[in-house]
Amino acid sequence: MAELSIRIGELELKNPVILASGTCGPELAKFTELKKIGAIITKSVTLDPMLGNLPPRTVEVCGGMLNSIGLENPGVHQFINQKLPEWLALGIPVIASVAGKTKDEYVEAIERFESTEVSGFEINVSCPNVKGVEFGKDPDALLELTREIKRVTKKPVIIKLSPNVSDIQAVALAAEQGGADAISLINTIYGLKIDLTDRTSILGNITGGLSGPCIKPVALYYVYKASEVCKIPIIGIGGITNTPDALEFLVIGASAVEIGTWNFVNPNVGVEIADGIENYCSQNRIKDIKELIGSRRF
Ligand SMILES: Cc1cc2nc3c(=O)[nH]c(=O)nc-3n(C[C@H](O)[C@H](O)[C@H](O)COP(=O)(O)O)c2cc1C
Repeated sequence: MAELSIRIGELELKNPVILASGTCGPELAKFTELKKIGAIITKSVTLDPMLGNLPPRTVEVCGGMLNSIGLENPGVHQFINQKLPEWLALGIPVIASVAGKTKDEYVEAIERFESTEVSGFEINVSCPNVKGVEFGKDPDALLELTREIKRVTKKPVIIKLSPNVSDIQAVALAAEQGGADAISLINTIYGLKIDLTDRTSILGNITGGLSGPCIKPVALYYVYKASEVCKIPIIGIGGITNTPDALEFLVIGASAVEIGTWNFVNPNVGVEIADGIENYCSQNRIKDIKELIGSRRF
């Protein structure tokens, strides 16, 4: 059997398959054997509760979906007290996704999580801060934010990057220089769908984030560009629906993958991909997944 374990800072995952923020939860245990998954990531949690955006919040489009959930969550205090125990009872590493509008909001939310059993953090930097700047778009702000977060936690920190930037290498490097243990990419891509009966946008928030199979080539491109400049592990996300999709990300340079939208289509997809990667390795006499990671020949 091939060695499938990978490391993100101090955290060792038994395999490189992770379920992505906002697309999974303890309820999946009814449909799949979550113990076979490397790790699971919570919906993004903010310091204070958030109501989210006006409905409709999701719509299917060709090859994927748009969502504009708007970070609805009960806030860190309630999440830790009421929801986290159910996540931790799954018996696999739980990574807390944290979002915020200001540096202080991120830091305070992480400080609250620090004494819990979460295994690490994924930092969602795709939301505007008070000055209207998105941390994920501004390399200097991202470097500073990453540094501050690393100052208050001993747990591994993954910075989740937005594709809605002009220079992905600059933000990836900023996260690395700020001390991130890994980066993950991509979050959703800005998108819209028009209702032609009244010529308005279908989503209550007007714009949304595109995800699903249609974004995979874009995600692969961003992982490729990030891998050209980063030394820290990269986690590939975007449009993964099966084992070959996941393998493409590993070959291009990702140390792990996250599965998002496809959990809604096939709640067993994570387990199928974990098994599929193992089969691929044994069929190709790959003893350790590290032989596969970044093995592209270009
Ligand atoms: C309904 C929905 C909710 C999401 N919520 C979050 C979230 O709270 N935080 C976050 O970082 N990403 C969130 N995402 C983005 C996913 O984690 C993932 O980055 C993106 O969907 C691309 O992967 P996919 O094509 O496999 O879905 C959400 C995606 C969807 C579809």
